Amino acid sequence: MATPKLLTMLLSILVACLCVFDTVVFCQYDKFSKYDLPTGVTGPESAAFGVLPSNGPYTTVTDGRILKWQGSSIGFVDFAYTTPTRSKQFCDGTTDPDKGPICGRPLALSFQRLTGLLYIADAYFGLLVVGPTGGLATQLIGGFKFLTGVDVNLITGDVYLIDASLTYEIRNTTQPGFQPDSTGRFLRYNIVTKQLSVLLSGLFGGGGPVISSDGRFVLVPEFNGMRISKYWSKQFCDGTTDPDKGPICGRPLALSFQRLTGLLYIADAYFGLLVVGPTGGLATQLIGGFKFLTGVDVNLITGDVYLIDASLTYEIRNTTQPGFQPDSTGRFLRYNIVTKQLSVLLSGLFGGGGPVISSDGRFVLVPEFNGMRISKYWLAGPKANTAELLLNTAGNPNKITRAERLREFWVAVSTGFYPRAPLIVPQGIRINSDGIVLQTVSFATEYFNKTVSLVQEQGGKLYVGSRLTSFIGIYSN
Ligand SMILES: *[C@@H]1O[C@H](CO)[C@@H](O)[C@H](O)[C@H]1NC(C)=O
Ligand SMILES: *[C@@H]1O[C@H](CO)[C@@H](O)[C@H](O)[C@H]1NC(C)=O
Ligand SMILES: *[C@@H]1O[C@H](CO)[C@@H](O)[C@H](O)[C@H]1NC(C)=O
Repeated sequence: MATPKLLTMLLSILVACLCVFDTVVFCQYDKFSKYDLPTGVTGPESAAFGVLPSNGPYTTVTDGRILKWQGSSIGFVDFAYTTPTRSKQFCDGTTDPDKGPICGRPLALSFQRLTGLLYIADAYFGLLVVGPTGGLATQLIGGFKFLTGVDVNLITGDVYLIDASLTYEIRNTTQPGFQPDSTGRFLRYNIVTKQLSVLLSGLFGGGGPVISSDGRFVLVPEFNGMRISKYWSKQFCDGTTDPDKGPICGRPLALSFQRLTGLLYIADAYFGLLVVGPTGGLATQLIGGFKFLTGVDVNLITGDVYLIDASLTYEIRNTTQPGFQPDSTGRFLRYNIVTKQLSVLLSGLFGGGGPVISSDGRFVLVPEFNGMRISKYWLAGPKANTAELLLNTAGNPNKITRAERLREFWVAVSTGFYPRAPLIVPQGIRINSDGIVLQTVSFATEYFNKTVSLVQEQGGKLYVGSRLTSFIGIYSN
């Protein structure tokens, strides 16, 4: 028989476990104690523990120091500071906001547990790092107005930062008439290349970011915006073939260079039409709200962008789900680059693909993947703004590109994808502007039983794209 004392003990263990692992029902947090700062010192805004739980807490205080708890008999002692301009005599115990640029104003700490290094976000002195013995920290990158938060990715070593504003400093926030703005940024400092990248801008205030323990995302608070965003990392997406990650990672399906401006237009199945400059990076969305954007081509003469949206009802990930049935809700669209208006030129298309503008700008060829046909949509001349059937293809046509010979085109055609046959036969067909098939090239050996999406002629060679391979194929003579 268990004694009442033993029962109480078991019950308290059970309660502790519930507090750690599950509900907060039993967690009253009704006991309080405190670690006092040295006399006259205030503002322990953040705390971090070292590699051992007994190692700390470390805390940042208003007078610019990072202090370390040394147990109740000693209390807090100096551990580190962020600027050589700091003197103990001038700074210790200060609460004068205008001394921040001299004394330092560390706001956040993050231990890299593998190396034992402590990363520090200082409002004025930026990102710094200090070793286990403390002292003057080494600045890794400065030039911030109001750095508020830091967290280190233990897997990659990268450091994530939040800078609350491009315009105001921490001391401005307590000045009369202060108005915050939306110029905060979420940043990544690459520890190897020493490059700083802006991951998000326009944040309404700062705070401290945190990396999830599996390193897949970062939570990003906006103090004044009163919200928290989830930022998915490269690690979550790079190399993925999971169709359900498309709405998070993006699923670009087609590219078209505007050669006069050097801009690259991107059709993303989920994120619509985007554009990016020669230095790359995060593309700018021009227009979203599509279900399954499959193709893009830019008219070099007018700058207009032609698009195909494969469906109003299904997404790219649905096409590989069991029992999938395509419908005829695809559309051929024009995005006017000046007015930013989207016009529907054709609707009721049976599937998508990549449209192509003729080199003289007089017409666009519009494929229908499931409809197994290509239409010619006239942009100029007596038939302007009307479409006619150009040809029926032997299989499912995806993207069409301009061949190097004038008035000729290459089409990626896969027979047997829809309706489904036991074997898919991938090929490239070269056609002229009257829809006459001039040549058929089989890719069946290298792309056995796989669909192909693109055949692009460049320098007499054919570059072949597919959703299902780990390479771009190059066919030459
Ligand atoms: C911030 O405060 C400093 C010191 O008072 C002042 O010089 C500066 O103009 C202020 N900046 C803004 C944006 O209010
Ligand atoms: C497409 O797939 C998503 C994710 O599995 C699902 O939620 C959605 O209902 C599917 N839509 C159609 C039209 O099948
Ligand atoms: C082609 O691939 C499909 C699955 O995508 C498979 O069911 C079929 O057996 C394959 N055909 C041949 C000839 O390997």
